Amino acid sequence: MDLIIRNATLADGRRVDIGIAGETIAAVAPALDARAVRKLDAGGDLVTAPFVDAHFHMDATLSYGLPRVNASGTLLEGIALWGELKPQLAQDALVERALQYCDWAVARGLLAIRTHVDVCDARLLAVEALLDVKRRVAPWIDLQLVAFPQDGLLRSPGAFDNLKRAIAMGVDVVGGIPHFERTMAQGAESVRLLCEFAAQQGLMVDMHCDESDDPLSRHIETLASETLRLGLQGRVTGSHLTSMHSMDNYYVSKLLPLIAESGVAAIANPLINITLQGRHDTYPKRRGMTRVLELLAAGVPVAFGHDCVMDPWYGLGSGDMLEVAHMGLHVAQMTGQAAMRQCFDAVTATPARILGLQGYGIAPGCKADLVWLDAADPVEAIRLRAARRLVLRRGRVVSEAPPARATLSLPGRPATVDFRLSRKES
Ligand code: FE2
Repeated sequence: MDLIIRNATLADGRRVDIGIAGETIAAVAPALDARAVRKLDAGGDLVTAPFVDAHFHMDATLSYGLPRVNASGTLLEGIALWGELKPQLAQDALVERALQYCDWAVARGLLAIRTHVDVCDARLLAVEALLDVKRRVAPWIDLQLVAFPQDGLLRSPGAFDNLKRAIAMGVDVVGGIPHFERTMAQGAESVRLLCEFAAQQGLMVDMHCDESDDPLSRHIETLASETLRLGLQGRVTGSHLTSMHSMDNYYVSKLLPLIAESGVAAIANPLINITLQGRHDTYPKRRGMTRVLELLAAGVPVAFGHDCVMDPWYGLGSGDMLEVAHMGLHVAQMTGQAAMRQCFDAVTATPARILGLQGYGIAPGCKADLVWLDAADPVEAIRLRAARRLVLRRGRVVSEAPPARATLSLPGRPATVDFRLSRKES
């Protein structure tokens, strides 16, 4: 072995040693009996497969304030603002911002990202830039690109041709935005056209779908039905699905089994949904996030995405998927022990399955990608947005951070404060 990490607690609670040979996990067992060049002791801390962000916009990230700040804070002003910024984008600056974000991601143990890239610009400058970034960060991050017609496939002239060109250039996944087309009928037509194109090309689909408070925005129904018609089960994802929050309960009782039958996965984006939805409400004000617990209960895989970090739609964020899970947990009221663990899965194993990542996990034969967290278990990791003590990519340490502690100067109190209630064996 090149490396053994002893006393690791896995997300399922098992206490194991993890043996790594080259770029692969060679053994996972209690009290592993093997020689190793290097040994580390995790002291009972949580060691997990890396965080995965299934929904992001890397072409817009870190552009906050360019060319101006979103004054209303709404989705529609964000889209308009992005439209103002697009003609001014320079490829070098976009690449530099994306690379900086990828540095943040690695430090957070976020080693796989599905990013949408806007194709409603005939220059396809952002596509070229992110394909370049994808090549450059491949040794440390799996970047998957979605061809995203931000201004509408049918509403924006040339968008479908641009999307096809982007796919030919190497973009991985077919995107869409049916609720932004001019009419419900045109939205449904865009779903049909995009799913047919994906089926013909053998590609996955991930659409921004029903990102609205309108209970009659039902493009998820068309997406599920087209998935069944074209045999795309397991390859299609509906992102956002916020209109489901406001839908009639009877209709949802029919919709949930259809989504489950179609094998369509769902991605909620808690930080963004809670800030962008319900903006037309006075009080009571809707939360706007999709029905996470109900989707999970119906057997639909649900991931949480970051969506935005310091861009026209959101002025905060730092690539921390534990912050995303923390917000998702609160907004969906997933406070039971099992539900809190599902929130951890929603930023690790579930999005890994949605992206189709190969060799993901902590088991013999998997890629030696893992994160050692300053936490005892997934719930404590979310509670503390725990420090990433060590991030390993293909068996190599790519980031290290100290545990979170503070020095106190209080009479009669301990000299240091530790936010973990019972630190084990460290
Ligand atoms: Fe998005």
